[in-house]
Amino acid sequence: MTQDQGKQAVAEAALEEIENGMVVGVGTGSTANFFIDGLARIKGRIDGAVASSEASAERLAGHGIRVLELNQAGRLPLYVDGADEATRHLHLIKGGGGALTREKIVAAASDRFVCIADDSKLVDVLGTFPLPLEVIPMARAHVARELVALDGIPELRTGFTTDNGNLILDVRNFKILNPVELEETLDHIAGVVSNGLFARRPADVLLLGGPDGVQRIE
Ligand code: A5P
Repeated sequence: MTQDQGKQAVAEAALEEIENGMVVGVGTGSTANFFIDGLARIKGRIDGAVASSEASAERLAGHGIRVLELNQAGRLPLYVDGADEATRHLHLIKGGGGALTREKIVAAASDRFVCIADDSKLVDVLGTFPLPLEVIPMARAHVARELVALDGIPELRTGFTTDNGNLILDVRNFKILNPVELEETLDHIAGVVSNGLFARRPADVLLLGGPDGVQRIE
């Protein structure tokens, strides 16, 4: 099974979580794109979608799916999104696509977060994938110094601006043994908009696609 087949399989499995008349929160990235394409087939059954990025909003609209602003939609019953790394505790690293802040907002506004990923994303300890931080541009150097003081090795994602007009620092070298604590520490650095650790609000369900089909962790 290729990685894409794994992504496709979990996207299909996530479609089964949808109930008639729902407004569905939709994430960002290649796995979320498989989900969006699947959503197109059942669009008559849902009331619309809230997207975690401009790219996903465009893809949803391209399929003729009604896209709502989060402020119009109220609290969402379900959010479906991918991850860059995931543990069996349902802690995640996200933001490889740079959409982490809006992803965190939509996840926070949702009752249930179903994370979909191919099984290459499952790790014992988070942190091999560089941790993305969204940073206000004027704070870039300050935040980078603070990260170095925490033993991180930050690197500016060049030529990239987030949907919110900010920068991304990708941070290597963190040993993330306590993701809840690190998430909080990083959020307290002035100039950090958000970080890619999803531990204080982890996923509720993790669907992993691999050679043995779809594995469900909750
Ligand atoms: C987007 O900002 C990320 O959080 C994605 O959820 C993550 O990068 C997973 O992307 P893929 O599904 O493309 O691996």
